[in-house]
Amino acid sequence: MIEASIVKVWCDLGRMVMKVLVAYGTRYGATQGIAEKMVEWLKENDIDSDIINVKKDQWPDLAQYAGLIIGSGIRIGQWTKEVKNFIKKQKKDINSLDGPKVFFVSSGYAAIPERYLEIKEEYCKKALDGLGVTVDDYEAFGGLMNASPDSPVGWLDKRMLKIAGRASPNFDPNGVNDYRDWEKIEAFTKEFIEILKGK
Ligand SMILES: Cc1cc2nc3c(=O)[nH]c(=O)nc-3n(C[C@H](O)[C@H](O)[C@H](O)COP(=O)(O)O)c2cc1C
Repeated sequence: MIEASIVKVWCDLGRMVMKVLVAYGTRYGATQGIAEKMVEWLKENDIDSDIINVKKDQWPDLAQYAGLIIGSGIRIGQWTKEVKNFIKKQKKDINSLDGPKVFFVSSGYAAIPERYLEIKEEYCKKALDGLGVTVDDYEAFGGLMNASPDSPVGWLDKRMLKIAGRASPNFDPNGVNDYRDWEKIEAFTKEFIEILKGK
């Protein structure tokens, strides 16, 4: 009886220690979709997480988390301004967090094979270095470019999207172009989980 209780407390403590924060910034939902999938994979691996939209939700104290995943969509070469603020204002806490920290973007150009590496460096490494933040891993995933009549993208942004989309493989200027590579996103999440569990 006592033994079972000790095991339960131990498991509960383990789970508490394993809590992860997934924080994302999105304009049209593509990055939110990725963040939500990551939370599902974390859960499948018995890892509790909190997920926040850094524009809408309160920012929790980072010190309570065993790991951190931050993601942003890209518009005209930029993260969302809230992701930039989130990182800028909590730079010290992020750098001193004792656990894995990873960063990703969802970007139209990341889905163009010839541009992928340059885009990954520019939107992730260079941008993070510019803010003085160090992460354990970073990745640029293809995004969701919705040019359909039902798209939530406003008309001016849609015009830009259609122009930018011309360089993307099999881009449909009137359709939903989902370049999110779920296998790659899952592999990235699993690597994060491996580091987290190895700590
Ligand atoms: C107006 C507009 C500008 C964009 N500019 C870029 C860009 O400069 N570079 C890029 O890689 N992707 C660009 N994209 C594609 C987005 O990064 C991609 O659709 C991403 O998945 C959006 O994520 P979100 O919906 O979470 O904001 C642009 C999309 C729009 C609508």
